[in-house]
Amino acid sequence: MRILILHGPNLNRLGKREPAVYGSTTLAQVDDQIRTLAMELGVETRHFQSNHEGALIDVLHAADDDCDGIVFNPGAFTHYSYAIRDAVASIRPPVVEVHLSDIHTREAWRRVSVVAEVCVAQIVGRGPASYLDGLRLLVERLRPTA
Ligand code: DQA
Repeated sequence: MRILILHGPNLNRLGKREPAVYGSTTLAQVDDQIRTLAMELGVETRHFQSNHEGALIDVLHAADDDCDGIVFNPGAFTHYSYAIRDAVASIRPPVVEVHLSDIHTREAWRRVSVVAEVCVAQIVGRGPASYLDGLRLLVERLRPTA
């Protein structure tokens, strides 16, 4: 099983960026935690971060053929990018939307997610564990139970 871990804009700044909101864990450390869990679950993860909307869309399109599921933190694109929303809607693999912070208790504009309705779940407010929960949820969903 192949899972794409997709990080949107400014997530490369994790660890330095607004630590009171996003914590002090770097993106490389988040990715390491995800890889450790992926090994335990027996799945393969691929990791990609971009600050560019079009680059994220290209990777979503490519994932249609070579991934079984996607854990996606679209960053600020969450709140207004209909292009990202349409890209998610256009592909076959299920997408779990994740956020480190709890977007529902922050500014009014951040409480809106235009991608949520095309994702299979949304996990917020658990820091790096949001990604881990997202990965577990996807694997449970994709793996047929005995
Ligand atoms: C975020 C929340 C977004 O509102 C913000 O723009 C981000 C990070 C999160 O993980 O909490 O860049 O997606």
